[in-house]
Amino acid sequence: MTIRAVVRGVGHYLPSRVVPNSYFEDLVDTNDEWIRARTGIERRHFAAEDETTSKLAANAANAALGQAGMAASDIDALVLATSTADLTFPSAATMVQHQIGMTGGYAFDVQAVCAGFIYALANANALIVSGQARRVLVIGAETFSRILDMTDRATCVLFGDGAGALVLEAEEATGTAADRGILATDLHSDGTFRDLLYVDGGVSTRTTGHLRMQGKEVFRHAVEKLAETAHTSLGKCGLTGADVDWIVPHQANLRIIKATAQRMDVAMERVILTVQDHGNTSAASIPLALSVGQDAGRFTQGQVLVMEAIGGGLAWGSVVLRW
Ligand code: UT7
Repeated sequence: MTIRAVVRGVGHYLPSRVVPNSYFEDLVDTNDEWIRARTGIERRHFAAEDETTSKLAANAANAALGQAGMAASDIDALVLATSTADLTFPSAATMVQHQIGMTGGYAFDVQAVCAGFIYALANANALIVSGQARRVLVIGAETFSRILDMTDRATCVLFGDGAGALVLEAEEATGTAADRGILATDLHSDGTFRDLLYVDGGVSTRTTGHLRMQGKEVFRHAVEKLAETAHTSLGKCGLTGADVDWIVPHQANLRIIKATAQRMDVAMERVILTVQDHGNTSAASIPLALSVGQDAGRFTQGQVLVMEAIGGGLAWGSVVLRW
């Protein structure tokens, strides 16, 4: 008998403040036209002063639990992907655990920057298939607005805040690619590329720091590595690009998303796009896109979704999921 991790509920939360591209025209030498043409981004959400990452995450978690028809007490494990935890410690996951009223089980953060949700899903899947948990809440939540250098036009226009969440539950299955749930995962990292995307602060500097990125280099790695990992995870469960109903990609740049879809031979009509409305929300971008796609009625039971992401580390990976 095979155990699969099946999606029972999805939800998201976005701060109410919407920041259009024009906002940055007063801060740096940029314009709406450049941002749209080079990235596909039109607007993003920025959290209010009192909206921490854990608060965004708790709102998304409650929405996902509501859709699953479950209470926080039904959850065995909470896995939160974030690079912008409220404090150095305790984990933002335990703060979310408290805020949603989950007093049992266990909660921990996963830090793989923009690939964080893929890493969190892969770890949640491992907990479920190994029998260590039956129901896992997997969340991606970020407040990147707090680590942006608002004088650096090459990065400040790219990122936004938000959170998305999934409830996964163990289900007995046949062990074939016809099963519902997570069918395959593929994770990679290579610290050689540390300097391509990082925050120049942290415990060792006694500061929070700001995001620094060599965008062109990250772009080059993204185009090459994302299609490769997607093909690898599809191959692990005996599927190909022709079996893919939806790509739910990390939403960093429309040009990267298009190039990856092209390399996978999947039409853009089969790609969930939120980059125009959310910007790059790092670990939150895939669960946000899943939730928005679901709310728009895009997914039907039995369809094959491929999620893929790359970010600081570099860390990258993909997950194949049958809805
Ligand atoms: O989520 C984690 C993974 N991150 C990513 O996937 C991001 C990957 N990188 C990218 O998305 C793109 O590389 C960027 C959007 C960051 C930049 O786009 P690009 O087409 O690679 O532009 P570039 O860095 O080559 O810059 C082209 C020009 C430069 O000017 P010069 O040197 O040609 O005079 C930049 O200074 O555009 C300039 N530029 C801007 N101009 C107006 C850079 N940022 C801006 C800006 N507004 N905001």
